[in-house]
Amino acid sequence: MKERKTDLFTPVSLGPYELPNRIVMSPMTRSRAGDGGVPTSLNARYYEQRAAAGLIITEASQVSLQGVGYPFTPGIHNDDQADGWKIVTNAVHSRGGRIFCQLFHAGRISVPALQPEDELPVAPSPVAPEGEAWTPGGMVTYGTPRALERGEIDMAVEAFRRASEFAVVAGFDGVEVHAANGYLPDQFLQSGTNQREDGYGGPPEKRIRFVLDILGAVTGVWGADRVGIHISPGNPFNSMRDSDPERLFTTLVEAVSPLGLAYLSVSEIDLADPGTFKEANYNAGLNEITGKLRQLFRGTYITNGGYDASSAGAVLSSAWTDLVSFGRPFISNPDLPERLRTGAALTPLDPATLYGGGEKGYTDYPFMSEKNPGP
Ligand SMILES: Cc1cc2nc3c(=O)[nH]c(=O)nc-3n(C[C@H](O)[C@H](O)[C@H](O)COP(=O)(O)O)c2cc1C
Repeated sequence: MKERKTDLFTPVSLGPYELPNRIVMSPMTRSRAGDGGVPTSLNARYYEQRAAAGLIITEASQVSLQGVGYPFTPGIHNDDQADGWKIVTNAVHSRGGRIFCQLFHAGRISVPALQPEDELPVAPSPVAPEGEAWTPGGMVTYGTPRALERGEIDMAVEAFRRASEFAVVAGFDGVEVHAANGYLPDQFLQSGTNQREDGYGGPPEKRIRFVLDILGAVTGVWGADRVGIHISPGNPFNSMRDSDPERLFTTLVEAVSPLGLAYLSVSEIDLADPGTFKEANYNAGLNEITGKLRQLFRGTYITNGGYDASSAGAVLSSAWTDLVSFGRPFISNPDLPERLRTGAALTPLDPATLYGGGEKGYTDYPFMSEKNPGP
């Protein structure tokens, strides 16, 4: 692989935007939205503190009430939510940052207690995930979801389209389709969760159709160059599996590559393995499938999973990727770009405050410089 003089601070264009650095803040659910999934000034402060990233991707934001998978998460499907997000996007823009909204539908990774009218969650096929859901009333074992009827698939695609329109109103710079980590679009992609016999199931060419329909709807609102897609081939998180992941994901990326999207974001970390997740040493280029995807995708590529300053520098100079996204380091280091640039120590994160709560473990992590304590 060729070497090049590119590091995290080499500017890069992404869609119509010129980014000052190649550091992306990875989408992270923090379960601190206000009532009705409406983002608040607390959420705005959190994102504003991290606006030095070349690009921020928001936490997963549900495109409909049916798309809810976790409590206290934001939505992007009504006027109040768009107004709440407007506070967030204004705050990030006031610091010169750029922010995309991650469009999310949980599919089967939900339970009736999180659904409207206590209904069953939906999925491509009635296949239950293992594990338990966190609900305001306590932990609840996942059940068997209801398979979407043919017409309901169109309604789900329409929810992504409408959410894209609300994202325009909210002042975002673009949107990311969340097709990773075992949620509804990923459930359509992978054979373990998609047993349909209609035009949306069967061989990979049919299983990718739901994602392509969503991309068609979303790019119709935003234009392709402000739409990204996030995938996680081979990540078994949320009980996911596929009979031939290499064929599936190469088929998907071959179909997506000509669309001219803003980027393809590939997460390589194994979220299901707490050891790997903690050690975070499952980097791009080590995975055979993503090696092929990188070659197939003719556009801006973002890699994610366990990077630090040194491994990110190596993967950029080897021309493996165009940008690197950082998740956990951004939680506990609001000024992560400055720390990466200067080689400063990183503040470790507090796992107890990842989900839910208020300022603690959210907006109170220290900035490196007292002269520049951030917003
Ligand atoms: C608290 C937390 C919440 C997350 N929520 C999301 C999410 O909403 N959407 C998503 O695509 N990935 C989510 N992820 C995965 C991260 O975006 C990222 O892929 C993962 O943390 C690996 O990157 P890292 O090693 O730099 O942390 C989450 C991760 C964490 C730690």
